[in-house]
Amino acid sequence: MGEEINDNPSGSGPADNTVAEGNGQTVEAGVKYYTLEEIRLHNMSTDTWLIIHDKVYDLTGFLEEHPGGEEVLIEQAGSDATESFEDVGHSTDAREMLMQYYVGELHMEENDAKSGESSSEMAI
Ligand code: HEM
Repeated sequence: MGEEINDNPSGSGPADNTVAEGNGQTVEAGVKYYTLEEIRLHNMSTDTWLIIHDKVYDLTGFLEEHPGGEEVLIEQAGSDATESFEDVGHSTDAREMLMQYYVGELHMEENDAKSGESSSEMAI
């Protein structure tokens, strides 16, 4: 009742806000990870996601604005467009525009332990 200040139940382990250095496993608050499987579902003109450099973008609202036309974007919807994006030699402006459409990061499926279907095989 008198312990409201204590929001870090100490005793074991470091404070949980510490930025882990060097192990690449830091999960920043608010960053969402999507698997290829999930991204693949956003493959239509009314729902268009693309992966560029392992980042995921929702370009649905950008299709009509794209100077290169909406078709090229729809063609690759739901997949990795890094190569095509780089092949075109997009300007710095184009790269900055990407930020507006950022929705998250590509989740490497090898690390995806949570969606295992066979993890509950051992019933008692
Ligand atoms: C996904 C995010 C993308 C953004 C924000 C974007 C943005 C832009 C912008 C701003 C331009 C004008 C030129 C420049 O500033 O570089 C452009 C041109 C172009 N883009 Fe994209 N682009 C994207 C993806 C793609 C992809 C995946 C392709 C190919 C499959 C593509 C193909 C083209 C082509 C062919 C042009 C040249 C159009 C022309 O000059 O006639 N773009 N894009």
